[in-house]
Parts: sequence; structure tokens; C-alpha cells
Amino acid sequence: MITLAVETSCDDTSVSIVRNDGLVLSLLSATKDLDHAPYGGIVPEIASRNHSLILLNLIDQSLKKLNLKIDEIDGFSVTNRPGLIGSLIVGIVTVKTLAQFLNKPFIGVNHLEGHLVAPFLKDDSYAPKFELKDSPFIALAISGGHTSLYKVHEFGKYEVLGTTRDDAAGEAIDKFAKMLGLGFPGGAQVDQLAQAGDPQAFDFPRSLLHEKNYDMSFSGVKSAAQRLIEKMSNEEIKINLSDLCASYQKAIIDVLLAKLDRAYKQTKISKVIITGGVSANSRLRLEAEKWADRRKIQLMIPPLRYCTDNAAMIGLAGCVRLQNKECSSFDLGPNTQPEPDDFMETK
Ligand code: KG4
Ligand code: ZN
Repeated sequence: MITLAVETSCDDTSVSIVRNDGLVLSLLSATKDLDHAPYGGIVPEIASRNHSLILLNLIDQSLKKLNLKIDEIDGFSVTNRPGLIGSLIVGIVTVKTLAQFLNKPFIGVNHLEGHLVAPFLKDDSYAPKFELKDSPFIALAISGGHTSLYKVHEFGKYEVLGTTRDDAAGEAIDKFAKMLGLGFPGGAQVDQLAQAGDPQAFDFPRSLLHEKNYDMSFSGVKSAAQRLIEKMSNEEIKINLSDLCASYQKAIIDVLLAKLDRAYKQTKISKVIITGGVSANSRLRLEAEKWADRRKIQLMIPPLRYCTDNAAMIGLAGCVRLQNKECSSFDLGPNTQPEPDDFMETK
């Protein structure tokens, strides 16, 4: 079975053709960060307009690349929640139109389920260490909009162990980057600058670190950085830029890995995935690998192309659902929030 997937939940337009075993046959994405950069954040109207300009072109290019005709696609998958309404609409209407015209099944997918299956994608240079069916596993999903820990009982059964009470980790990093006058989104730049810095140079708070739960909070570290940076001259900021980035991202990584370690100790589940845009962070990847080696944990962090938003992960989630004989109807619409039964609350 071959699925064509569309992801337009935020600012990235992405199209992928995925086989039901998770093999990515094609993944094409267009990122228009520069259009949003002058505003220091994503402007929803600009994002949806860009999707409408680019999407059909990406679908066309994807098919041409594989020498496929659109009627050789067995089904369609599209992110329909959560996300920016206008952005989601562009993807949903496109996929519904293709599915209706070709008389093929289609399915609306939760973007976060996409991130949870991203480590199980395959291609010429990446293969997962364990399979989606080898559940249960623990999942740490860290992105610009979400930061949560899950126990994945099996595909489709996601128990929320804990989540951030305020900012997502990626949001806290992007806002920090903005304070320093770095570009948007700033995650990759903070990561880059931090590589030459001392993570102990500045002492940033690690909120809820020792609390016996999986709750996280990243607004404290952000405010502490704001207060510190306000007191520094431009010259001081410039001299200390790498140390600031290294210390700030270290504070966030310490909290994420402490909560992950707690989840491992409590559940004794030794299969773990880390996913979402922030899992592209080089320091986090290094520290997580060391932690997994120490604890004899099978850890999977997807390659960078599957960490940040991409349609391949939506293709795999959709493929599994379509194979399970699920499909959406033509009244499928966008939702800013997940649906009530997308996630299970902690028992
Ligand atoms: O998963 P994603 O592409 O979009 C959402 O679903 O939010 O994640 C985007 C987030 C942004 O906050 C971005 O700054 C962050 O991932 N990010 C990084 C890195 N690359 C992207 N954060 C830290 N280090 C990176 N290398
Ligand atoms: Zn995402």
C-alpha cells in the first residue's frame, strides 16, 4: 500500500509518499522561515497563503520523482489536528478533493501521533532499532508547540504521563533566541552557538526537577534569561553568547532527561523514543545516548529530517490507520486541539 501524505499544520509545507512498512519513497518540504522572521514568530495568514502557493507543486514533484501517476496512490493522509486553522484547511481541502476525484480512501491524522511514529520511518540511510509493534515504549515528544511524556501502550493508545504546564521546550528556546537577536526559529542557532560554550557558565533554574511527577515548566528558565540579558550590555552579550546558549539549553535538557529517567524507573520500560523538532538538538542527542547506554535502554531518536515537521510521519500514521480499515469522511475539518480520545489520561 502506498500513501501520499500532506502536512500543513504550521508553517512548513510537506508532502511525502510512504509505503505501509514505513519506507519513505519521497519526502519534499518547503520551509518559509524567512517570510516569518521579520515578525519574530509565525504569522498564520502568511503560513496558509504559502501552503496554498506551494502544495500542489510539491505533490506534482513528488509523483514525478517516483514516476508515479496520482491514481497509483492507494490512499491519502493529512494532518487535520492540532494546528493553525487556516494552514490545516489548505492541506485538508487538497487531500479531500484528490480523494473524491480518484475515489480513494483518506484519513485525518493527529500531528502528535505523527511525531510519535517518526522514529519508525525507514529509508536508504536510516532504519529503526525496534518496530512500532514492539510496544510498549516511552516517548518524549518535544517540539515548538508541545512537550509531553507518553507511555505508548500500542499504536493509537497513548497515555499522557506528563506535560509542560506552560511553554513548550522549543518555544522557550525560540523566545530565548529572540531575546538574543538571533533568527527565527532559533533552536538550530542556539544549538550551533552552544557547541563552543560552557554549559556551567550561567546558572539557570531547572523548574520541577525534583518533583515526583512528570510535569514540566519552562517559563521560569525563560524569565530568568530575560532578567539576566536585560542587565547585560550588548558587548557583554556578544562575548558571552556561546556560554549563554550552552547554559540555557543545558537547563532545559536536564529537566527533560530527569523526567525521562523517572519514567523509565517507574515503568521499567526499556524502549524509549525522543521525537519532535527539539530532538534535533545535538547536545540533547548526545546526553540522551549516554543516558540510554548507562541504563541499557534501547533509545531511538529519528534523523534530523524526521525530527522537525514532515509529511513522512503523517504518511506512516495514516498508512497504519488506513490498513486497519479506518478512514475519514468528507466532513473532516481542521481542529486547533487534539480530539478527546486521541490520548489516554494517566491511570
Ligand atoms: O516539531 P517542530 O518542527 O514543529 C512543531 O511541531 O512545533 O519543532 C520546531 C521546534 C522549534 O522550536 C525549533 O526551534 C526547534 O524545534 N528546533 C531545535 C533544533 N532544531 C529545531 N531546538 C533545539 N535544537 C535544534 N537543533
Ligand atoms: Zn511538530
